[in-house]
Amino acid sequence: MARKIKKIGVLTSGGDSQGMNAAVRAVVRYGLSKGLEVYGIYGGYEGLMNGGNGIRKFTSADVSNIIDKGGTVLYSARCPEFREEASMQAGIANCKKLGIGGLITIGGDGTFRGASDLTERGLPCIGIPGTIDNDITCTDRTIGFDTATNFTMQCIDNLRETDESHARCNVIEAMGRNSGFIAAYAGMACGAVGIVVLEDHSYSEEKLLEKIAACRAHGKRNIMVVVSEGVLGYSEKLAEKIKGLGIETKFARLAHIVRGGSPTLADRILATEMSTAAVDFLLEGRKNIFVCERDGKLVGTDIKYAIATDKLYKSTFIPGVKAPTDDELSRFTAKQIKEMRELCAQRAAEISRMLEIADSVSAF
Ligand code: F6P
Repeated sequence: MARKIKKIGVLTSGGDSQGMNAAVRAVVRYGLSKGLEVYGIYGGYEGLMNGGNGIRKFTSADVSNIIDKGGTVLYSARCPEFREEASMQAGIANCKKLGIGGLITIGGDGTFRGASDLTERGLPCIGIPGTIDNDITCTDRTIGFDTATNFTMQCIDNLRETDESHARCNVIEAMGRNSGFIAAYAGMACGAVGIVVLEDHSYSEEKLLEKIAACRAHGKRNIMVVVSEGVLGYSEKLAEKIKGLGIETKFARLAHIVRGGSPTLADRILATEMSTAAVDFLLEGRKNIFVCERDGKLVGTDIKYAIATDKLYKSTFIPGVKAPTDDELSRFTAKQIKEMRELCAQRAAEISRMLEIADSVSAF
């Protein structure tokens, strides 16, 4: 039988997202309420690897007044070095020194890879999805997506007011390296005439330019077009093409500004609920699990399964991402592989549905 965990660590890794602090707070407070000692690990996997003052025992007071703050009090980093065996072993040794028997890692897909590698080496990990991109296929929502998308919407609304005054078109590049969710949701919410995302295999520039020209011909003054960052290098080029139609066009790259700010109610609730579930999973002796929201319920999903599902989905639209090999899939049952494919189809359908609806209500 697995020894009962008495001390746990929590870290945030990868790109920060609004709601990470609410998650850290909930892990610490809920862990303490369950009689655990909780250690905050500063600077993600890099902090875990370096140890020392970067790992500190937390009290309830240490996480006071952070539920409403963006960023992460534990700081974050992307740490490619953590793929190396020596780095992982250093991290495990630092946990052993302090008696930390399990980790809760908050972040995106890269964070889960680290968590899975650590679990395989004997340190049980549970992942919580924190990324604005909403690009983790197995979960309907990630922490930060709601806040970042709401802020993207506000920025586009602001631009629309000035564009209306000046009869301009505006191409807005929304965040989302591997995912068009922010662009699709904010675009629909702002009545964008066009939304361009990597996932959309049927995108036609010609059709979009025709639609923009028709909107202007019918007297539409502001014309908003949202392009996802994932369509690399395209947004500025598209703005130039629209200028070519004789329409004054501005370009705005929203970038990291949408990654800060106070988390919305939805993100605070998601973060708090997922964090208590993560602590429960660790206490139940589960490991290599990542907390997902599926159809309004929180479920634990095997991290390897989540990573394979991600590859399966992203390989359909991101150049350079390869589908999992037969060897990688051989660890899953036929039923699991079928479920993976269904999940991928569900994500693709969600984006397509958003784009279709947005398109159908934005003609002028
Ligand atoms: O975390 C996701 C994300 O914010 C993407 O939307 C964006 O492409 C990327 O991270 C930016 O990464 P960095 O903060 O390392 O520049």
